[in-house]
Amino acid sequence: MGVTASAASRGRRPGAVHSPALLHLLLLLLLLGHRGRAGECKGHRQELNQQPGYVTDGPGNYSVSGNCEWLIRAPNSSFRIILTFMFLDTECAYDYLFIYDGDSYSSPLLASLSGNTLPEPIEARSGKMLLHLFSDANYNLLGFNATYTFTLCPRGCSGHGTCDLSGSCTCHFGWSGAACNIQNCSDTCGPYGHCVAAQHCQCQPGFIGHNCDLSLNDNQSAGSWYNVSRSDPEFTGRTAAAGTFLNTTNSLYIFGGFDLNQVLGDLVRYNFTSNQWHRSTASPSPVSDCLTLCRTDVDRFSSRMFRFNLLNWIWEEVIPTGGKSPAMAAHSMVFHPASRTLLIFGGHRVSPRFSFRTNTTNIFHVDERYWTELRSTPSPSSPRERAFHTATIVGNYMVVYGGNVHIHYQEEKCYDGDIFFYHLDCHQWVSSEELRLSVSAGDGECVCV
Ligand SMILES: *[C@@H]1O[C@H](CO)[C@@H](O)[C@H](O)[C@H]1NC(C)=O
Ligand SMILES: *[C@@H]1O[C@H](CO)[C@@H](O)[C@H](O)[C@H]1NC(C)=O
Ligand SMILES: *[C@@H]1O[C@H](CO)[C@@H](O)[C@H](O)[C@H]1NC(C)=O
Ligand SMILES: *[C@@H]1O[C@H](CO)[C@@H](O)[C@H](O)[C@H]1NC(C)=O
Ligand SMILES: *[C@@H]1O[C@H](CO)[C@@H](O)[C@H](O)[C@H]1NC(C)=O
Ligand SMILES: *[C@@H]1O[C@H](CO)[C@@H](O)[C@H](O)[C@H]1NC(C)=O
Ligand SMILES: *[C@@H]1O[C@H](CO)[C@@H](O)[C@H](O)[C@H]1NC(C)=O
Ligand SMILES: *[C@@H]1O[C@H](CO)[C@@H](O)[C@H](O)[C@H]1NC(C)=O
Ligand SMILES: *[C@@H]1O[C@H](CO)[C@@H](O)[C@H](O)[C@H]1NC(C)=O
Repeated sequence: MGVTASAASRGRRPGAVHSPALLHLLLLLLLLGHRGRAGECKGHRQELNQQPGYVTDGPGNYSVSGNCEWLIRAPNSSFRIILTFMFLDTECAYDYLFIYDGDSYSSPLLASLSGNTLPEPIEARSGKMLLHLFSDANYNLLGFNATYTFTLCPRGCSGHGTCDLSGSCTCHFGWSGAACNIQNCSDTCGPYGHCVAAQHCQCQPGFIGHNCDLSLNDNQSAGSWYNVSRSDPEFTGRTAAAGTFLNTTNSLYIFGGFDLNQVLGDLVRYNFTSNQWHRSTASPSPVSDCLTLCRTDVDRFSSRMFRFNLLNWIWEEVIPTGGKSPAMAAHSMVFHPASRTLLIFGGHRVSPRFSFRTNTTNIFHVDERYWTELRSTPSPSSPRERAFHTATIVGNYMVVYGGNVHIHYQEEKCYDGDIFFYHLDCHQWVSSEELRLSVSAGDGECVCV
């Protein structure tokens, strides 16, 4: 049994691996390279030190080719600064709000925000938080407005505790954790789970979710979104990670990714039975020496594939016997047991100057180790080009969700919230309406047309 992770490698040096994060890095480097070109927000950095306060680029749209900076400074370095957004609206993938934990661009980057999705509250721990709004030469939008507060405690005790001068929270009754963000689960696990150590619900077979409220065996739960895990110190925020679910252990395995400052090579597991994250140290990780390499040479994507053996916890490279290996990043990959194939959908591919998004599907035949490309029947239900989406196999379908779909000047939408279904026998994309009809007709099988 093995988990295959699409840890893409630059391919120039053996063992050197990149991730879809390169794309972000490249973008960042490009953007930072433009610094100081024009429109410096009246030429100076604005400093804010009164709390509570707010930080905004001001009423109306921000200026074109702007570089605006705000430094929020708490009384001393023991304080944390918590920034909570009221709105955010910048041109997707071109205009960015960068947020640093410190007072310079070399401080750790906490967020790189673009588009209009409201982020969770952002916390700086150094007593200083630098905001840098970069806008390019055309098109501008409303910008942002966010409030900030100073606190000595993690997340200001999340509103569920009191913060003392030593920086520790005393949690209100029913809450625990360093930031008082863990609710005593004795009343929340519902009829299908039981609360363990007041910390997490352990679910009965057939039920999952933070509160064990999502049934896998009836359709009562259908059509709604459920919270699975909350934030947890064992699983730090990241983008562009590879992940796969194994039903034999009822766990989701997540490998690597990018935390905006470095490429990660860790393996983290979420156990859906116990609703807990676990960190595993597997060695040697295929990205152990990536950090310096990834920042210096970002010219191509990789087509290398690695496999992680769950029995002996060892990474190994998978060498194809033939076919054309696609070099890509920010794609999705799922395993279809019936055909013993890996389906690789969408993502960014390399072209001579830029990368471009695709909506093609490549297939890797696991036993023959051979690549082919899928030729699907054209359908109005097929997803358009996208990257940074997710995919999974449900029954005989590959289900694709979300992704970055922005088309400059055409659609000012950064991310998509749509779901697409690909029937793996009929080899065609099916609309959710067709799917609903075939499911309610009790007919799991598709009628290929
Ligand atoms: C930002 O929010 C503050 C606090 O709510 C408000 O006073 C201010 O007018 C807002 N500014 C903009 C440009 O939205
Ligand atoms: C910062 O100020 C707080 C509150 O006045 C104090 O408890 C803390 O010791 C100070 N920290 C430093 C590093 O001076
Ligand atoms: C802000 O920019 C958008 C898009 O360019 C434009 O439609 C809108 O009229 C602008 N608003 C203002 C107040 O300039
Ligand atoms: C959790 O709540 C239950 C019921 O109110 C209580 O008996 C138990 O002591 C609490 N546990 C903790 C760790 O707060
Ligand atoms: C969904 O649930 C309803 C009510 O329990 C039932 O009538 C229906 O047959 C179910 N449909 C499927 C496809 O299981
Ligand atoms: C999921 O959790 C978040 C944060 O705790 C909460 O705001 C949201 O309402 C929850 N969503 C659902 C569907 O329970
Ligand atoms: C895993 O999935 C297979 C196929 O869907 C199923 O037959 C098997 O019972 C599942 N195993 C577990 C442990 O859930
Ligand atoms: C997941 O959690 C359950 C309940 O604590 C435990 O019995 C099981 O062994 C765990 N699975 C793995 C793979 O660790
Ligand atoms: C890819 O998306 C385009 C629209 O952007 C669509 O015309 C085309 O049919 C799609 N191709 C596939 C293979 O789904």
